[in-house]
Amino acid sequence: MTASSKENIKHVLSPLASQTLLDSDLTRPVASKRPVRLLPWLQVVKIGGRIMDRGAEAIIPLVQELRALLPEHRLLFLTGAGIRARHIFSVGLDLGLPVGSLAPLAASEAGQNGQILAAMLSADGVSYVDHSTIANQLSVHLSAARAVVGSAFPPYNHHEFPGSRIPPHRADVGAFLLADALGAAGLTIVEDVDGVYSTDPNGADAAKAQLVRETTYAELASGTGSLPVDRMLLEAMANANHIERVQVVNGLVAGRITAALRGEHVGTIIRTGASAA
Ligand SMILES: Nc1ncnc2c1ncn2[C@@H]1O[C@H](COP(=O)(O)OP(=O)(O)O)[C@@H](O)[C@H]1O
Ligand SMILES: [Mg+2]
Repeated sequence: MTASSKENIKHVLSPLASQTLLDSDLTRPVASKRPVRLLPWLQVVKIGGRIMDRGAEAIIPLVQELRALLPEHRLLFLTGAGIRARHIFSVGLDLGLPVGSLAPLAASEAGQNGQILAAMLSADGVSYVDHSTIANQLSVHLSAARAVVGSAFPPYNHHEFPGSRIPPHRADVGAFLLADALGAAGLTIVEDVDGVYSTDPNGADAAKAQLVRETTYAELASGTGSLPVDRMLLEAMANANHIERVQVVNGLVAGRITAALRGEHVGTIIRTGASAA
């Protein structure tokens, strides 16, 4: 390169151009701004696989309730995986498959549940869309319909973290990451129990189980007992930008999802790191 051509090089001015992205003192002035809320009117509802596993008995009343929400809200329904993922995990673990191979196998069940739900709501204009459509064209679909269905599983696949043989980023994490990234109005997690209990209400100590009406991600993270949500959800909540609270509600009791979306306290409220309090 001659001296004169070197002088002609045009430098693109950018505050991060000549810095390491690893130095938080340097990146903070540029990167610490709260991101914009992309879809601030969107309500995200994650439906657990255990509800879908129950078949018509649970799905038909659920579909009726979700249908009735359409005039009131604009919604993204995200479905999780249930019994079929548990089976595929045990087959895969027996064969020695790595965590990144197991993740998409479970995710495909979450997708199947989404397709079932969307089929039941298709006469209302609701369809199932895949991850790339959610990433790039969610708004187009939400302009055409009051609600869209997707898989709650995050698409980590072979990017899934090593450390656990069971993929740690499952449907609750995926739904939370998506709702927070979109700056959604809220996230409701639909379970087959009334919310988070002090101990598993269907476990050996069921008689002692008490419903926790309100808690924080930090309080839940400090315990070691089982939860009805992915433990990695608590880590995602610690770093939330927009979603200040998530409500876990019982989808087997008619009216609970409707009430939660109207801001009523009908399950367990978990406050996140974005919470003002
Ligand atoms: N602390 C807890 N509070 C509430 N439910 C719990 C708790 N620990 C374990 N569970 C169990 O978690 C079950 C829900 O399982 P989960 O895998 O979260 O289902 P889904 O895939 O539908 O989200 C409940 O039916 C309950 O028995
Ligand atoms: Mg759950």
